[in-house]
Amino acid sequence: MASAEESKRWVRMMTAQTPTNIAVIKYWGKRDETLILPVNDSISVTLDPDHLCTTTTVAVSPSFEEDRMWLNGKEISLSGGRFQSCLREIRRRAGDVEDREKGLRIGKSDWEKLHLHIASFNNFPTAAGLASSAAGFACLVFALAKLMNAKEDQSQLSAIARQGSGSACRSLFGGFVKWIMGNDKDGSDSLAVQLAHDKHWDDLVIIIAVVSSRQKETSSTSGMRESVETSLLLQHRVKEVVPKRIVQMEEAIKNHDFASFAQLTCADSNQFHAVCLDTCPPIFYMNDTSHRIINCVEKWNRLEGTPQVAYTFDAGPNAVLISRDRKAAVQLLQRLLFYFPPNSDTDLNSYVIGDKSILKDAGLETTRDLEALPPPPEVKDAQKYKGDVSYFICTRPGRGPVMLSDESRALLDPETGFPK
Ligand code: ADP
Ligand code: DP6
Repeated sequence: MASAEESKRWVRMMTAQTPTNIAVIKYWGKRDETLILPVNDSISVTLDPDHLCTTTTVAVSPSFEEDRMWLNGKEISLSGGRFQSCLREIRRRAGDVEDREKGLRIGKSDWEKLHLHIASFNNFPTAAGLASSAAGFACLVFALAKLMNAKEDQSQLSAIARQGSGSACRSLFGGFVKWIMGNDKDGSDSLAVQLAHDKHWDDLVIIIAVVSSRQKETSSTSGMRESVETSLLLQHRVKEVVPKRIVQMEEAIKNHDFASFAQLTCADSNQFHAVCLDTCPPIFYMNDTSHRIINCVEKWNRLEGTPQVAYTFDAGPNAVLISRDRKAAVQLLQRLLFYFPPNSDTDLNSYVIGDKSILKDAGLETTRDLEALPPPPEVKDAQKYKGDVSYFICTRPGRGPVMLSDESRALLDPETGFPK
């Protein structure tokens, strides 16, 4: 370690950026609640961090008196079991660190005694059903591994992030990712692997409809616990359905087979929500708007004769819509904006966020342009549901975690180690 004099001064820190992900074959149910071991494999698409991401800065200094964390500018407690598991597991794997510039050496065993400061920011709403916990825990583990010079590979890190939130393990990779459920009791083989990188299927365009929801939803954690305890459909799904779907989904992704990809994605989302209905008491995550979006996509896909768009819904009413290509995405956005125009006080620029070039391709510049949108041909007497969608995010499959070397992106002050 550095000398006593130096040790009062130095702060070592690292900043990372990590994406969220959306499951196309869902994780729903644990066989071990503490280690977060799932009852089935799952597959996800990583979303472009340019539009949805977490940035986390982690710092260590002998001047820190305890582990502390700030999320979106507010201090939060790290006492919960999930944070504690991640911190314990990553400390266990910490290595020696030598920083010649700062003239310091942190030995492997020093990490047990040193405290951490963590600041994190989600560039999208936290705890709103957009998987902030997935991006958040993945970013925490990824950044700490770099800070502590842990020599684990990405899959081994994913097994640590998994203990923060199951779906977080899939955010350690870009592109298309599989969480292998594993068999070991200690969870060491329950980890994520990359199936294909983010440019593998470049045609895909993703539109997320953030659906207004007044009611408080059942959390994924308690919802899946209740499903495991009470749903017979979940038992059937785990044994008979998911293993076959995983194989078919891997094939579909490998071959860019959109028809199979869409069929599997929609069927799996629907079965996950059927399991929720089969839970006692039943859990309702989707609302009328979610159902209307499903109808819109189903009718249009049928008219085209081949799927243009796949839909999937997590534990909430938001729709994640994956279009086969840009042309389909433009037509999808036109349909969505026809059915769900914004409230009069919302301008188009804040109603459709993310990759706005799709809006441009759709020939839509202002809210007034929406009035000229023709009703979709597949529906007679189509109705409009103004204000039922809060906003849309246009995005695409994206890259995995990266380190940000530019100090201006750090969320902690390099001198003090406290939030900037
Ligand atoms: P979401 O649908 O956004 O995943 P959840 O309610 O499932 O919402 O998870 C929210 C929780 O995830 C937060 O209370 C916090 O514990 C954790 N979380 C969210 N963002 C971060 C972050 N950037 N870093 C660490 N943990 C985070
Ligand atoms: C419906 O990962 O949020 O989004 O492991 O208890 O933190 P915990 O649950 P979480 O559950 C995600 C469920 C899902 C499906 C999925 O992402 O695979």
